[in-house]
Amino acid sequence: MPETASNLISPPLPDPWPRFAPPLKLGVMASGNGSNLEAIAQAIDRGDLHAQVQIVVYNNPKAGVAERALRLGLPAVLLNHRQYPSRETLDKDIVETLHAHGADWVIMAGWMRCVTAVLIDAFPQQVLNIHPSLLPSFPGLRAVEQALAAGVKVAGCTVHHVELAVDSGPVIMQAVVPIKPGDTPTTLQARIQQQEHRIYPAAIALAALGHTS
Ligand code: GRF
Repeated sequence: MPETASNLISPPLPDPWPRFAPPLKLGVMASGNGSNLEAIAQAIDRGDLHAQVQIVVYNNPKAGVAERALRLGLPAVLLNHRQYPSRETLDKDIVETLHAHGADWVIMAGWMRCVTAVLIDAFPQQVLNIHPSLLPSFPGLRAVEQALAAGVKVAGCTVHHVELAVDSGPVIMQAVVPIKPGDTPTTLQARIQQQEHRIYPAAIALAALGHTS
């Protein structure tokens, strides 16, 4: 199966993509490299995704996303989870930071912490996550390795609304990525990430239109 438009599983997205009034105000949460943040920023710059990144919140001082945000000219705030006594107190600070910067949509892009009701309840139906598997298969850590170990023939990625259980919640969009003979976690992860970068901006627009699949 070629990795083209036909591998996308979602309701149709209008062409051109929808304009929102005002543009969607995004708060992006990331713990790692930040390639999904950059894909979202590029979709905004192209004029596809009608949105603004109001703030990037990251939790790991060494995360590559910090440098990426700087290069993209996006404001970023470090909230180091190690300095909080509980998940709830971290989430409270995240909520305050997102509100202070005017974010309406919470975009978890490689956020490697479990979130609590403190965050989810502050942004009802407006917290999204991306996960490198075809949920509900292979939730949790090392999803790509899980898929390879299970011997499945297709992998992929999912953008979904966030609920309390890890990697659960209504699916907005998925992309299928065939597993090739000889694939390693690295090779498969790289092809899945290409698809993540396609679907996350589109799924944000779909979510703002009120869609789940
Ligand atoms: C992605 O593979 C995403 O599915 C997972 O974390 C990774 C983040 O990658 N939740 P990046 O930091 O956006 O490059």
